[in-house]
Amino acid sequence: MASLGVNIDHIANVREARKTIEPDPVSLALLAELGGADAITVHLREDRRHIQDRDLRLLKDTIRNRLNLEMAATPEMVEISLKTLPSMVTLVPEKREEVTTEGGLAVSKNQNHLEGIIKKIQSSGIPVSLFIDPVIEEIESSAKLGATWVELHTGNYADASWSDQPKELARIEEATAIARSCGLRVNAGHGLTYQNVEQIAAIDCIEELNIGHTIVARAIAVGLKEAVKEMKELINNPRREPLFGIRHH
Ligand code: PXP
Repeated sequence: MASLGVNIDHIANVREARKTIEPDPVSLALLAELGGADAITVHLREDRRHIQDRDLRLLKDTIRNRLNLEMAATPEMVEISLKTLPSMVTLVPEKREEVTTEGGLAVSKNQNHLEGIIKKIQSSGIPVSLFIDPVIEEIESSAKLGATWVELHTGNYADASWSDQPKELARIEEATAIARSCGLRVNAGHGLTYQNVEQIAAIDCIEELNIGHTIVARAIAVGLKEAVKEMKELINNPRREPLFGIRHH
């Protein structure tokens, strides 16, 4: 059964829209924990458009479960991660002009750059996850560089039409199996919703799902604790058959 990392960047997005002090992602993280979040995930972006350095410091001191720090593979971020000592670091690609993380890391093309960074972070006792597309070349390169986890990008699955969704699901299933056979641990996330999460949660060997936007959106209606609880229920007891389309193997 997969655990749930709740991405609270979206709470900080609302705060930063007004450059004020509310809503505070740090104090609201408690409600995510009470709803059953197994980890709190934050992306400290280079432009600080949502999560701020202060959020990261306070979260590290106050949350009771794990802290997953998503960040770009830059010297500034490496230094921050070594100072903060989160439970894990997830390296993601970052472009200033994007609304959210768009694709996975180009691991095979940036092996030299990434290898040193992964070594530096992991030798400080922080396991590293690489956010990648479900593509064999990237999985194999991630294993070669000694990453502990990969986080498989579920964006194409989430964006697919209902008729294409089984094909995208099969790609994630296959990527999970390949990653495991390479000795990698596997997480997944991006674009998952209450409507599409069950098929991904039903894949054996995916350890953790990182989910943000849909939970924070639902929290506006039902509150954060309840929104996390509802997501946990779907992940803990997912329907195993596709609702539409034909399963591709
Ligand atoms: N995983 C990674 C690596 C991400 O960058 C994001 C978005 O911040 C998520 C998961 C969560 O995506 P969403 O907000 O679409 O649930």
